[in-house]
Formats: sequence, structure tokens, C-alpha cells
Amino acid sequence: MARIIGGVGTTHVPAIGMAIAKGLQNDPYWKPFFDGFPAIHKWLERERPDIVVAFSNDHGLNFFLDKLPTFAIGAAPEYRSEDEGWGIPVSHAAKGIPELSWHLINAAVENDFDITMCQEMLIDHALTIPLSLMWPGGDWPVRIVPIGINTVQHPLPSVRRCLELGRTIGRAIETFPSDAKVLILGTGGLSHQLDGERAGFINKEFDKLCMDNLVTDPDVLTRFSVHDVVREAGSQGVELLNWVAMRGALTGTVTEAHRNYHIPISNTAAATVLYENAPVAAKRAA
Ligand code: DHB
Ligand code: FE
Repeated sequence: MARIIGGVGTTHVPAIGMAIAKGLQNDPYWKPFFDGFPAIHKWLERERPDIVVAFSNDHGLNFFLDKLPTFAIGAAPEYRSEDEGWGIPVSHAAKGIPELSWHLINAAVENDFDITMCQEMLIDHALTIPLSLMWPGGDWPVRIVPIGINTVQHPLPSVRRCLELGRTIGRAIETFPSDAKVLILGTGGLSHQLDGERAGFINKEFDKLCMDNLVTDPDVLTRFSVHDVVREAGSQGVELLNWVAMRGALTGTVTEAHRNYHIPISNTAAATVLYENAPVAAKRAA
């Protein structure tokens, strides 16, 4: 059966794409952010995941405010990117794995999650940037299942629901008949607000509380309503929901192998984490 080896959480600010295109990784503005990645590169080289199951939010490339699924799962053989208007170069495509997508869609619906199934899906900066950060300078050596969570148009799903979605997806991955190694990705956040009177709002204390609890006891975060999260993390800081789902999918014993936190990148508190997931059975055997 497929094995979940770990999880990565990372910010997906579009300006990072511009910094990559211009080779600004060592520029004083960018270095503290990009310094969060060599540890992840080392781990990826060692662990070599075959598949990435990625929780992120679409920003208007697939779904606009007129039709916006709460949860959407891609089931395409390939996911192209297109110009989103940020001025960043259009990325190459990501390869899909439809047989795993359908396995996850079936499991999600069986577990009472109403899923929009997408046999065609584009990927935006919320996936192209994290994948390019993890595997810089070329093709991504993985196949992906993109899972979209609505963090854009209220009403948004609750923290509890996103944690449960992650758990359902994690359990389903572990029944996928394959010896593939699976990495879970959650993108966006942490605290940021791009518009309105609080544009530029960042909350370091809340971000720390979230990162600490995500490792040890993610259920603690379910006491925050989505409106609490908007208040504490900013209106786009609710992208935290993608991180919560990522953590939910880590079904074993979770340890934080790496954390980087830097304020700001653009208007965002930029965070990068790496979690290792030891299967519970392996722990018992040890
Ligand atoms: C920014 C952050 C985001 O999450 C996003 O999707 C777009 C822009 C920013 O900080 O500029
Ligand atoms: Fe975003």
C-alpha cells in the first residue's frame, strides 16, 4: 500500500515566482525566505517521494466567485498552468495520477465529503511556486493530486472540517494499492491580508500558536471558527485551512523536522515547515 512519508507546508506568494525567475535567492530581501529550503531539498533527495497530494486554494484560475466548490479534487493526467496576471512566467505542467485521484474522490464521497471532481484542472501559483521551491530549476519528479479548498468566498469550510478532510484523504492514501511514497503538501498563509483597512496585517503570535499546535495537537485549532481565523490571521490568512488539511493527512506519528518563519514576503508572514510521518505500525514494531 502507498506510504505517507511526510508533509510540507509553505507560503505561495506570487512574488516568489518573480524572485526565482530573476535568480534573486541570495538578495538580502529574499535570502531569509529561500534559506528555509536547503533542509527540505536534502530531505527530498533522501526520501524521494513519488507522489504529492497537495491541498491549496485556487485564486480565480479555475473557479471564480460565480461558481466556487468548497472542496475540489483534480483527476486529470496533466495539470497545466496559465497566466494569472501576476507577471510571473507561466510554469510547465505537472503530471497527474488519475487512478489515485479517483481512489481519493471515492473515499471522500463515501466519508460524506461532497467533492467537485475535476477531470480538467489548471494549477495556479499556489501549486507551481511550492513545487518550484521544493524542486528548483526543472521538471518536478513527482505526480500530483491537487485538492482545492475554498479559502476565498464565504462561507468557508471550518477548521474541523478541513482537518477531517485531511484525515479521510490520509487514510485513503494508505489503502491505495501501490508501493509509492507520498508527500502531503499544504500551501498558502500564514497570516496575511491583502486588501481592505487591515491590508498588510500580520500576526506572529497566532502563526506560532498554529505551527506549534499543528505538530503536537492539531485538534486544538478546531476551537477557532473561520471568522476567528480571519480576525487572527487576516482575510487571506485563512489559507491556514490548507495546512490544517495537510496535517490531518499525516496519519502516523508526526515530528517537525524543519521550520522557517520570516516576515514579510510581500504582505505575508512566510512560513515553511517539514513534518515527518512515521507509520504507527512501524512505531509499534520498533
Ligand atoms: C500574496 C499572498 C498570497 O497568498 C497570494 O495568493 C497572493 C499574494 C502576497 O502576499 O502578495
Ligand atoms: Fe494565496
